[in-house]
Amino acid sequence: MALSSGVTASIRALAVSLLLAISAAAPSSKRSAWKKVASTAEGGVAFTLGEGTYFANLEYPKALLSLSCKTAGKPDDIVPFTVISVQDSPVTASSLEGIVAKYLAGDDVFSTDFLEGIYLAYNGSGSAAIDASAVSYLDSVAPSNLLLDAAFSASAAKTTFKSPVTIVPSSSGAALPAGPYAVSVEPQSIAFNMVYRLYEDEYRDFLYGTYDANDGEGTWYPLELFFAKKWYPYVPVPSRIYSWSDPRPLAGARVAIKDLFDMKGLITSGGSQAWATITTVANSTAPSIQRIVDLGGVLVGKYKLAQFASGANPWDWQDEHYPWNPRGDGYLTCSASSSGGGCSVAAYPWLDYAIGSDTGSSMRRPAAVSGTYGNRPSQGLMTLEHVMPLGAATDTAGVFSRNVHSWVHFAKHWYAPEMHQSPNITGLTPLDVPDNTLWPKRVQYLTDYLPLANPAAEAVLQTFLAKLTGTFNMTLERVAFSSIINGSSPSITELNAATSVINSLTQYFQVGKPLVEAWAARFGGRYPPVDPGKRAWANVNATRYSQPTYDAALAVKRRGVDWFEREVLYSTAESCSESVMVWDIGTGGLPSFREQDLVTNNTAAAFLAQVPARAAVSGASICPIYGCVDMTIPIGQVEYFSNITYHVEYMPVTVSVIAKRGCDFMLWNMWGRLADEGVLKEVKTGRTAF
Ligand SMILES: *[C@@H]1O[C@H](CO)[C@@H](O)[C@H](O)[C@H]1NC(C)=O
Ligand SMILES: *[C@@H]1O[C@H](CO)[C@@H](O)[C@H](O)[C@H]1NC(C)=O
Ligand SMILES: *[C@@H]1O[C@H](CO)[C@@H](O)[C@H](O)[C@H]1NC(C)=O
Ligand SMILES: *[C@@H]1O[C@H](CO)[C@@H](O)[C@H](O)[C@H]1NC(C)=O
Ligand SMILES: *[C@@H]1O[C@H](CO)[C@@H](O)[C@H](O)[C@H]1NC(C)=O
Ligand SMILES: *[C@@H]1O[C@H](CO)[C@@H](O)[C@H](O)[C@H]1NC(C)=O
Ligand SMILES: *[C@@H]1O[C@H](CO)[C@@H](O)[C@H](O)[C@H]1NC(C)=O
Ligand SMILES: *[C@@H]1O[C@H](CO)[C@@H](O)[C@H](O)[C@H]1NC(C)=O
Repeated sequence: MALSSGVTASIRALAVSLLLAISAAAPSSKRSAWKKVASTAEGGVAFTLGEGTYFANLEYPKALLSLSCKTAGKPDDIVPFTVISVQDSPVTASSLEGIVAKYLAGDDVFSTDFLEGIYLAYNGSGSAAIDASAVSYLDSVAPSNLLLDAAFSASAAKTTFKSPVTIVPSSSGAALPAGPYAVSVEPQSIAFNMVYRLYEDEYRDFLYGTYDANDGEGTWYPLELFFAKKWYPYVPVPSRIYSWSDPRPLAGARVAIKDLFDMKGLITSGGSQAWATITTVANSTAPSIQRIVDLGGVLVGKYKLAQFASGANPWDWQDEHYPWNPRGDGYLTCSASSSGGGCSVAAYPWLDYAIGSDTGSSMRRPAAVSGTYGNRPSQGLMTLEHVMPLGAATDTAGVFSRNVHSWVHFAKHWYAPEMHQSPNITGLTPLDVPDNTLWPKRVQYLTDYLPLANPAAEAVLQTFLAKLTGTFNMTLERVAFSSIINGSSPSITELNAATSVINSLTQYFQVGKPLVEAWAARFGGRYPPVDPGKRAWANVNATRYSQPTYDAALAVKRRGVDWFEREVLYSTAESCSESVMVWDIGTGGLPSFREQDLVTNNTAAAFLAQVPARAAVSGASICPIYGCVDMTIPIGQVEYFSNITYHVEYMPVTVSVIAKRGCDFMLWNMWGRLADEGVLKEVKTGRTAF
């Protein structure tokens, strides 16, 4: 959108007036002055403006107005600016007031301090007029610079404004979305730089914040800033106004990414400093994540995970400091391994989604303990290229959300057919993923894992089940999963063994072995410093850790899934999944804590991932083994007396719902319907979900 090299007098005038404004550094008394906090190596500047702390990407502006100018601002000098987009002519005071009010109400980045400069952009056709009331309004705001689209030139010629006015030649601002900017003046140009609000990650759920370099090559930059006073990372979120004219389905959605997925320009650590030391910066973004960007989403940071996506307990985290859960007394577990994802979505209203992975429970359990919506999709629903693996044929990618309709919307656009994995990765028949409302006929209440240990939580579950079966006219049956799979071939013992092979081999060959070898070569034969769970890489059994063993395990899994889809969860003409199963991946309605001593020998608390003695298999393993879809749904909360705050606190109650592989969209349609009926609700951020 650069202007032609012929420089117009009006643009030269703009540059001069901007320079004056910068050197004077005296905004209208109604507005706060910006103060620089820091510059970054990537050419960004952090600044305070009024109540907020902001960041602007000065290296790659959103748009550049070319000009030739003798003097420029000092490096890092900026003018807070707002592009106001109007579509009706004449522009009136009330239309401008209405737009500014909408910006204030709908965006957490914009503030009236950004009205230091105003660019009034006209998005209608032909010429446009500014009426006398709008002129008074603009005079009262008194921006130090007023830019008007060429469409206003005839009208502006008849008017006297108090602010210096510059006419922007037609189409120059076309690529510039409305919203707040930090304008910088360079020798040959005026740059409109995107503005981010810097939020403090007070729960320390992130490793660091990220932002789009805007370099045209899809690079992401780490935000090299830290809120030292309180030891928090900063997370940059762009103005929501930028996305209001963007028709893409996820335009402006703010998404946190587990540090297991490659983002071009960043190191994928897998939560390991040792791995980060020997690996290189990712030179492409994982296709699953790139799809979010292509749909308009913005990636605001990399969040904490259990190292190498393991199921480590909070007290076994050594490299990273364990993330904090906003719910209850603040000492509840975030579970593993997509821990920072569930907890950050539960914590921050400025965050919309988090992307995580689930091999053994890693989306579903963090969703359960944070009281957020989270899914393990059907095996193969999302490509995991450029994602650090655990088990290629058991890994899946899911999304956390607070709002049912937003969750469904995201999922339906993200899990597109072209993102499915090849059957040669899953080892299974090709996925069939109908988007239908062919509801199940039966709900199977799995008595191996239910009822919930806390009767108050079980009452919440029963209320939900009554509404579920009532809404969809389903019958409820109590049945033990162990009896459903009794006599299956292959047996659950064989399937468990095969799953354990699948879950460990891919990661060993792609991460463990290269890490152990590279570390030994660099550090005199030493084993890398990793969390306790992965010290076993020092001593693997070469017979077990081999491709033939993996291939044999995949064949066992295939037979198990084929059996399951024939005998247990299957499609009929009337149902995508003839039944669904409900169970609990949480802690039975009892709190589970980040501190081991708060759980040990305490009947009022529970460890995560406990398999009841009556169960033949961990409930969390049902879908990793059988390829099915399992979603965690927040349905209420129960109280407990906290030994941390010495106060009554609340913890979320959730239910896990399993359907046949490929019936993900049918389940999401069920959740959408239950949200419409008021059965499912948007969860709140902070101490309580409801
Ligand atoms: C045009 O301006 C109106 C009024 O501010 C706004 O609602 C609309 O999104 C704008 N359209 C574009 C394409 O910027
Ligand atoms: C990208 O990174 C991979 C893994 O480090 C490497 O094999 C490949 O050559 C790189 N590609 C480019 C274009 O640099
Ligand atoms: C897996 O299938 C894809 C096509 O779906 C093919 O490109 C790829 O080479 C196959 N990989 C293996 C290891 O067979
Ligand atoms: C509910 O399902 C039963 C079969 O389980 C059926 O007989 C009945 O007609 C259904 N009711 C409605 C309202 O669809
Ligand atoms: C499994 O089936 C056998 C033989 O039919 C029966 O004796 C046993 O009780 C069953 N076990 C379970 C857990 O249902
Ligand atoms: C190594 O693995 C093989 C195959 O799983 C197993 O049969 C063998 O007992 C294992 N050896 C040791 C020493 O554990
Ligand atoms: C928990 O109980 C067991 C058995 O009753 C006992 O051996 C152990 O010392 C107790 N642990 C703690 C931390 O109190
Ligand atoms: C609080 O601590 C007491 C023992 O000091 C224990 O009996 C009780 O179960 C604890 N409550 C919770 C919710 O952990």
